[in-house]
Amino acid sequence: MQDLIELNHLSYHYPGSPNHLALNNVSLTIQAGEWISIVGPNGSGKSTLAKTINGLVRPQEGTIKVNGQILTDDTLPTIRQMIGMVFQNPDNQFVGSTVEADIAFGLENLGMPTDQMHERVTSLLQAIDLWPLRHRTPAQLSGGQKQRTAVASAIASRPQVLILDEATSMLDPASRDMILSLVRQVSESQSLTVIAITHNMEEVLLSDRVVLMREGAITTIATPRRLFDNPQLIEEHDLTLPVLEQLRHALAKQSIHIEEPLINTESLKNALWTYNSTM
Ligand SMILES: Nc1ncnc2c1ncn2[C@@H]1O[C@H](COP(=O)(O)OP(=O)(O)OP(=O)(O)O)[C@@H](O)[C@H]1O
Ligand SMILES: [Mg+2]
Repeated sequence: MQDLIELNHLSYHYPGSPNHLALNNVSLTIQAGEWISIVGPNGSGKSTLAKTINGLVRPQEGTIKVNGQILTDDTLPTIRQMIGMVFQNPDNQFVGSTVEADIAFGLENLGMPTDQMHERVTSLLQAIDLWPLRHRTPAQLSGGQKQRTAVASAIASRPQVLILDEATSMLDPASRDMILSLVRQVSESQSLTVIAITHNMEEVLLSDRVVLMREGAITTIATPRRLFDNPQLIEEHDLTLPVLEQLRHALAKQSIHIEEPLINTESLKNALWTYNSTM
């Protein structure tokens, strides 16, 4: 696989806080098509790191390379076109006057023919289950409905990289599953690279690698499985194991060993069937 994003020794302090490093010597390489989760306590630098990739934050030290191009004032517009981003706060990212117009906005800018644009917007409105609300304005939507719109808008122009900054935080479990399965489907069919900042450990299971941050630095990069098998790492980063993983650990203490992380109740059932049949 090809290295798509290379962050080399990034350090950054916000203008008003010269003595506080929001990023402290961060290096990370992400390959095309990977799904990366970024986790860590509040204030550990996750959002700041994500914003370096599309130039919203410009580190005082280090270099950012996207698709072989070093990020500079000259390359910034090209790099930004490759990246879709959904921010923590869905209120600040509505650009259209309605849900439908918001999703279409980026496509209009790309000069897409009307028929094709209509088709893509319709299928996304259906995928996020907001077709009946397509003519609503942002003021007439809940926080979760705005978040769903923001994800659809970010995906619409088929970016190579999708950055989700706690984009599912306001969603109920059913809506979260809907959005994550949409992102997964797009990531598989279009080899989309996903960088997802999340406090939700179930979501972490979807990723190829997990980046753990603390105090502006990357402390560990691991597979979800290695992270979930390491209670000390979990504790050190103020994280909690998914409920099913807590159960797997509790069963292990009773000498019932299930090797694979448990993703859903189905995988729990299968694991217990397998266990019973080997007794
Ligand atoms: N605009 C800003 N000006 C000054 N300091 C900031 C600003 N934004 C963030 N910081 C500081 O930079 C550090 C990293 O913040 P960041 O928002 O990246 O953390 P985070 O990991 O995304 O946290 P959270 O989980 O709360 O979203 C924190 O110490 C924060 O207080
Ligand atoms: Mg944040």
